[in-house]
Amino acid sequence: NFPQQILDLLASSTEFNSIELAQQWKVDHQKLIGAIKSLLANEGVLATKDVTEKRLELTNEGVQFANEGSPEFLVFQFVGTEGAAQADIMKQPFGKIGMAKAMQAKWVAVDKGTVVRKSTDVVDSTRKYLESLRLGEDVDENQKKELKKRKLISEVNIKGLLVSKGESFTTNLAKQEADLTPEMIASGSWKNKQFKKYNFESLGVVPSSGHLHPLMKVRSEFRQIFFSMGFSEMATNRYVESSFWNFDALFQPQQHPARDAHDTFFVSDPAISTKFPEDYLERVKTVHSKGGYGSAGYNYDWKIEEAQKNVLRTHTTAVSARQLYQLAQEGFRPSKLFSIDRVFRNETLDATHLAEFHQVEGVIAEKNLSLAHLIGVFTEFFKKLGITNLRFKPTYNPYTEPSMEIFAYHQGLAKWVEIGNSGMFRPEMLLPMGLPADVNVAGYGLSLERPTMIKYGINNIRDLFGSKIDLDVVYNTPICRLDK
Ligand code: PHE
Repeated sequence: NFPQQILDLLASSTEFNSIELAQQWKVDHQKLIGAIKSLLANEGVLATKDVTEKRLELTNEGVQFANEGSPEFLVFQFVGTEGAAQADIMKQPFGKIGMAKAMQAKWVAVDKGTVVRKSTDVVDSTRKYLESLRLGEDVDENQKKELKKRKLISEVNIKGLLVSKGESFTTNLAKQEADLTPEMIASGSWKNKQFKKYNFESLGVVPSSGHLHPLMKVRSEFRQIFFSMGFSEMATNRYVESSFWNFDALFQPQQHPARDAHDTFFVSDPAISTKFPEDYLERVKTVHSKGGYGSAGYNYDWKIEEAQKNVLRTHTTAVSARQLYQLAQEGFRPSKLFSIDRVFRNETLDATHLAEFHQVEGVIAEKNLSLAHLIGVFTEFFKKLGITNLRFKPTYNPYTEPSMEIFAYHQGLAKWVEIGNSGMFRPEMLLPMGLPADVNVAGYGLSLERPTMIKYGINNIRDLFGSKIDLDVVYNTPICRLDK
């Protein structure tokens, strides 16, 4: 108990120097300083002054010589009573310096290439002085000079404390409270307690590592699957999208119920977008209101004001629409594209629905593609997720024809569950973009949340996402390895 020992020492003396005391007690100086600092937290018990002391410290070479002996002495030993060849001595690590020093001290002499002892009784004083200095003992000034010249010792400044009694010195410290508890407040006992000062210098707990959210773990696995199938990733950095790209470009009529505030979040500031590719916008307007490309259209009064309205994108197919338009402008080439990012819907929240979630979407653009190709691609995709048993059911999307819901047999639930939606994009969507007439585009989408919940056995989506998520779950979920 250093703090108590320090107090007891001061009780019977006036002051001490921490550097000297550390030597006397044969303890690490920093440990002693730590104990003094902890006592300083008690106001007025100690008084301290900074002191600096010059100390001689052994250099690395000095430590080596102190441990193994000086080179001159090692030469003297090597030579022995019989003598030794100078060439052999020079081969030793200590040979060169050792010879010079041993000759200088007249311990040895050379005679026709043979080194012999000149003295019988030799003391390794270099080693002795180094050992003394290492123990903190004083050594003759001339010896110190010599050792310094040989770079075996060097002078360093040590910062220490001169410690004396403070104005409220005591050897009997009251226990300091670290916490103010409700009990202390209720009973009033806090008035007679001493409280530990805050230490604003202490280091915080270092977090052992960062952790990926389970959704991001599954996302990175999905990305690898897409990459392994030759897909490239679309840019999804646009949560706010115009109704034009989210709906109109996808041949979704302006009076479609999904474009209602009950289903979609409209943005109030900025409320509208005004920059669109003008000629493309005209073609979209025409195909909606009058038809074209062999289609009768919807035959209604298409309004630019409706298309301008900004929304939080309701599906990543808005991203695909932009990308397909871009592909038509650059000149068509067969493409496989994917995206995995956030979308927003004005849903009633429950155990499986949130107002924001992630969509995984794949798009394949190629000449003469058929539904069979689409089925082939996502059969392969889901196989890599470990899902092999697929069924398809016809469905309706404004932008695909035919459209299929994808079902998989869920062993745990012992029933068929819907896992995705898909279809062949309509010519009313692709042709106004400027894609060649013989190009077909297949697409499919699924949520990231559902496979993640199945993968990690999470039953309530609010345990996975949002303000109620338990950080321990994030720390403890293993990395995602899907059974392939
Ligand atoms: N956008 C559809 C959805 O939100 C998914 C989909 C993507 C369907 C591509 C067909 C083609 O469910």
